[in-house]
Amino acid sequence: MAFIPISQVKPGMILSADAADVNGRLLLAKGQTIDANHLMVFKMWGVSDVAVEQADTDMPDADKPLDPAIMRRVAEQLRPAFANNDLSHPAVAEIFRQAVLHRARLAPPARVGAVTEFSRPPSPPSSDGAARRRNLQSRDIQLPEIPSMIFKINDIIADPFSSADDIAQVISNSPGLSALLLRIVNSAFYGFPSRIDSITRAVTIIGSREVSALAVGVITMEVFKDIPKNVFDMRAFIHHSLACGVLARILAASGNIRNTEQMFVSGLLHDIGRMVIFHYFPDQAPAMLAMTGTGSLYEQEKQVLGFRHTEIAADLFEKWKFPVTLSQNIVFHHRPMAAQDPVKAAVVHLADILAHGLGEGKSGEWRIPTLDATAWEKLRLSPHILSGVIPQALHHLGFLMTVFPA
Ligand SMILES: [Fe+2]
Ligand SMILES: [Fe+2]
Repeated sequence: MAFIPISQVKPGMILSADAADVNGRLLLAKGQTIDANHLMVFKMWGVSDVAVEQADTDMPDADKPLDPAIMRRVAEQLRPAFANNDLSHPAVAEIFRQAVLHRARLAPPARVGAVTEFSRPPSPPSSDGAARRRNLQSRDIQLPEIPSMIFKINDIIADPFSSADDIAQVISNSPGLSALLLRIVNSAFYGFPSRIDSITRAVTIIGSREVSALAVGVITMEVFKDIPKNVFDMRAFIHHSLACGVLARILAASGNIRNTEQMFVSGLLHDIGRMVIFHYFPDQAPAMLAMTGTGSLYEQEKQVLGFRHTEIAADLFEKWKFPVTLSQNIVFHHRPMAAQDPVKAAVVHLADILAHGLGEGKSGEWRIPTLDATAWEKLRLSPHILSGVIPQALHHLGFLMTVFPA
């Protein structure tokens, strides 16, 4: 399957994945032959690219047959990382299958053994004293004050009399942020056919909630991104965060979930609590990341620090007065059924599992998070949609990685 820009699509090509508009509404089903009328409809509804079947001579890497021996080796390597999951569950089985295909495709034969994000570095000696530990246990962290721009954005969003111009004016005060947001909203990921050349226009077209959420997401990542290199590879962390964001937005659109705004930012910020931990506990974090034994990093956090990254995220969002709809998607991404809107939290939950499974970036976690079967049921998705969602997400992820600051 190959995603190609709409400008290169010719009548007669066959869709290899459903084509939907930016809100996830189906425009043409997989397997249909595209005609001139369809092309007009795609352009009208802002579809920027579609997946089409290609001739064998022009077969992209994604569709080339893989060596079964390589796939078996990748599967063997990956299986222990799925130890907290039930591989007989149809969704988990499909996630595992897609993960093996993706990793086998990427790994040159000589490097197949390297499923690196699940092998841990040697454990450095722990240096935490009793006083420090008490601070950790009581989560006694001086979280930074709310950045003034987030404060202003929150204020405007809460004001029923505010206009698109008010949001745009605040964001436009930061040329760097404005330029980055415009690159993101002009990318194929947002799929608008005409160029959006100002934040005011972005707010008008995409909506003030989505643009302000994007701005808040980018600013929040910026605040905590200075992590010492010996603690964590920040680029790999941003890669994981972006992968989760892209997957969350596409999954939400595929699941016909209403109001998919904020889903990208929910995914982008889902592990922000872990960034806070890496940022504030540079001494403890490497020891925790290097822990051996059973369980997951998610469980180790509780044992070593006394709290989890999701609890730190909740503290931060409370202090920074994040909208509840956004913070709930993030705080409950490991136990979505406890969220006010379990479906949206379940989308982030599934996106996180997929990002880990595919090996797109790193969060420090050495086990694939456990899929909550009830949350999966809530999503009402067929496991088969993953084979369409994943290539689409990877296509957009590649671009976002090039524009997102590390
Ligand atoms: Fe997490
Ligand atoms: Fe994660």
